[in-house]
Amino acid sequence: MSKYVIGIESSCDDTSAAVLRENIVLSNIIAGQEIHRSFGGVVPELASRAHQQNIVPVVHAALQNANIDKKQLSVVAYTRGPGLLGSLLVGVSFAKSFAQALKIPFIEVDHMQAHVLAHFIADANEYQKPPSFPFLCLTVSGGHTQIVVVNDYFSMQIIGQTIDDAAGEAFDKIAKIMGLPYPGGPVIDNLASFGNSNSFVFPKPQVSGFDYSFSGLKTSVLYFIRDRLKNDPEFIEKNKHDLSASVQASIVEILFDKLIKASLHTGINRVAIAGGVSANTAIRNKMVELSDKLGWEIFIPKFQYTTDNAAMIAMAGYLKYISGGVGLLGNAPYSRSSTIFGSQNLTP
Ligand code: KG4
Ligand code: ZN
Repeated sequence: MSKYVIGIESSCDDTSAAVLRENIVLSNIIAGQEIHRSFGGVVPELASRAHQQNIVPVVHAALQNANIDKKQLSVVAYTRGPGLLGSLLVGVSFAKSFAQALKIPFIEVDHMQAHVLAHFIADANEYQKPPSFPFLCLTVSGGHTQIVVVNDYFSMQIIGQTIDDAAGEAFDKIAKIMGLPYPGGPVIDNLASFGNSNSFVFPKPQVSGFDYSFSGLKTSVLYFIRDRLKNDPEFIEKNKHDLSASVQASIVEILFDKLIKASLHTGINRVAIAGGVSANTAIRNKMVELSDKLGWEIFIPKFQYTTDNAAMIAMAGYLKYISGGVGLLGNAPYSRSSTIFGSQNLTP
């Protein structure tokens, strides 16, 4: 008999619930939180309150869209971390109570692992080949930038990560400097399509190994814009397309310099991208370019499974469930990344 799994995601500012029949998505409901827009970033206290309001209707809608009754569920998967603690608490507490009321097991999922495992999601109407092991995954989100060697579903090694801002944070902070709304990544992506990426050049970070740094780029863009505004108060408005294209090109170059280095060093030519920033057009184009140039076998997730969503949580939960994993009632959420991943750097 087919197993049904519900996934619950509440780590940041999206409340999401999804139902999968094994690896096939039956529903994936995401309630975004508009409230943060006017603050130019996520306000944790407001996020927790919105999750509290959204969680029951979102779960209800996920079950309804999947056309199943809650009694048909086999397991409840939820994001345990990393993320905002108050936000996580809403999803974690709901998921545990829901599972206990239904007398079914619950499974905790690491949000960053779930971004990677989104590659194993199947859609009922379209087949997308999942990567075989081992593969490299560039996981880029609002809070993380990681190069991960994926040896198996739950055997992942982070070989490089950011030492300061994440790639998504760089997009968001630079967008804020330019007076653009939050989240800035998709806005810059859109403006960049009308601009020239060679218009402005920003310095590249010097970081060893496969690690990243993005705070220097943010600061140099800040000073550059501040200086230009002195002579021309309209500078941003006049140059928003070229500025966006140039900033985006810098971020892409920084990301791929290290990813190429990691592929050469590990000898792994199967390369995937994941996380919210992997929705970026220039990043997707670069992957296609490198598959031609370097012979990479590339894996690009569907848009709906890049930014935060519960389908990836349900997918990771299902994979854990069939390999015998169980959640523990006493396990509290965690805000930082390292609890599940082992972070060990290989020196290139
Ligand atoms: O994975 P995600 O939804 O949430 C976290 O786990 O952080 O990633 C959100 C990040 C934000 O920084 C957002 O600006 C960025 O993903 N993002 C993009 C694009 N779409 C979302 N960045 C660049 N280009 C995009 N098209
Ligand atoms: Zn995420």
